Amino acid sequence: MLISSKITNGINGNIIIPGDKSISHRSVIIPSIAKGISRISNILFSEDVINTINAFRLMGVDINQKKNELIIKGNGLNSLQKSKENIYLGNSGTSARLLTGLLSSQNFNSTLTGDQSLSKRPMQRITQPLEIMGAKFESENNKLPLKIFGQKLTNIDYELELPSAQVKSGLMLAALNTKGRTTIKEKKISRNHTEIMLDYFEANIEIKNQNNEKIISIEGNKELVSKDILVPSDLSSAAFFIVAALINDKSNIYIKDVNLNPTRDGILKALNIMGANIVVKNKKKLNGEIIGDLEVKTSKLKGCELDSDFSRLMIDEYPILSIAAAFADSPSIFKGLSELKVKESNRLELIRYNLNQCGIFAKVENENLYIDPTIKKDFAGNKITTDNDHRIAMSFAVMGTKLGLDLTILNSEYIKTSFPNFTELLNKSGGKLSE
Ligand code: S3P
Repeated sequence: MLISSKITNGINGNIIIPGDKSISHRSVIIPSIAKGISRISNILFSEDVINTINAFRLMGVDINQKKNELIIKGNGLNSLQKSKENIYLGNSGTSARLLTGLLSSQNFNSTLTGDQSLSKRPMQRITQPLEIMGAKFESENNKLPLKIFGQKLTNIDYELELPSAQVKSGLMLAALNTKGRTTIKEKKISRNHTEIMLDYFEANIEIKNQNNEKIISIEGNKELVSKDILVPSDLSSAAFFIVAALINDKSNIYIKDVNLNPTRDGILKALNIMGANIVVKNKKKLNGEIIGDLEVKTSKLKGCELDSDFSRLMIDEYPILSIAAAFADSPSIFKGLSELKVKESNRLELIRYNLNQCGIFAKVENENLYIDPTIKKDFAGNKITTDNDHRIAMSFAVMGTKLGLDLTILNSEYIKTSFPNFTELLNKSGGKLSE
C-alpha cells in the first residue's frame, strides 16, 4: 500500500531512470543462446527480468552478476538444458511469450508457470502460429501453466494477425533454431528490439519494407555471436516522471540516455500534441537503438484525440497518459484500446474506474477512452484499485502528487515487477509518497 499526497514545489532534478524492461529481457535471452561471453550493463533488475534470468539459470546457462553488470556465457542455439523444475515467470507476459517461442524449438520439454495475473493472460496468440510450424503444447484454455513439447519445427511464411511484439519475437526466436527461411509479415508496427538485437548478434536476418508492410526474414541454424550490451533507460518508466513534471507547477527535470526507439515513442508524440514542453537532446545510436536525453518542464496541457494507430507505439503508456489528460484544459479521446484489456490487468476498465474515483469524468465506449476534465465531478473515494498492476499503481501515485486528496494505492508492491526504486526516486525529486 502506498499513499500519495499533493506536492507544491514541483518535480525537479536529474533523474536516473533504470534500464529498459523490453531490452533487458532480450539482453538475457539472446546472449544465453549466443556463442561466447556477453557483458550487459545497466540491465533492469526488476522482478520480471529476474524471472527471465532465473529461467535461463534453470536451463544451465552460466549467468553472473557483478555490481550492475550481468555476465552471460552462451554456448549456442542448442546448448540449453531441460529444466529440472517448472519455469516460473511471475507477472511477466514478455518472458512467457518469448520463451514459448524459444523453447518450442528446443530438443526437450518445458513447463512455464506464472502468478495469478499471468495465468489469466492469453497464450493462444503465440501458440497458434507456432503450431503452424509444428510446435506442440498442452494447457487448459490456452493459459499458463503451459507444457511445451520441444522439437524440430518447420519454417513458415506468416502474417501477424495481432500487432504484438511479444508474438513477433516469440516466432523469431523459434525461427533461429529452425532449418530454412522463416518470414514474418507485419502490417502494423510493433516494437522492434528483437530485430535490432538479433542483427547486432549477427543473426542471418533481413528486414524489408514493402507496400506498407514490414517483412522480417530469418535463415535458421546460424549461430549468434556474443556482444556486449548497454541497456538504455526505459521510456515507459520515464513517462511517470515526465507526466509528474508536466502537471505539477515549478517542475523541471532532466533524464539522460532514454530509449527513443521510434516504435516506442508514442507517448512523447502524444504529449507533444497536448502542448508539453519536452526537449530532446543528444540523440545518438547505441547498439542499433536510438537514445537521447529529455528535458521536461511544467506545461499547460490541452486534450487530444489519438487514433488506434497510436496505441501500438505506446500501449503501455495509456495509464499515465490518462493522468496527463485528467489535468488538461480540454477533453481527450484515445481510440482502439482493445489490447489494454489483456495486459497485467484490464487497464482500460481500471483507468476509467480510478479516474472516476478521483472525480475526473471518464468513460469507455467501443474500446475508446474519453476523458473530460472540464466536467466537474465529486471525488468518489480515495482508494485506488490496481488489480496488482504496476503501471496502474505508478500512474495513480503520480495522480496523487497533484490531486489535493491523499490517494491510497492498493497492492502497490507490484511496482517492483518493472520499477523497484520508483517510490524512492519520485520522493527524491519532490514527490510525497509513503508506504
Ligand atoms: C513488450 C511488448 C508489448 C508491451 C509489453 C512489452 C515486449 O506487448 O505491452 O509490456 O517487450 O515485447 P505486445 O506488443 O505483445 O502488445
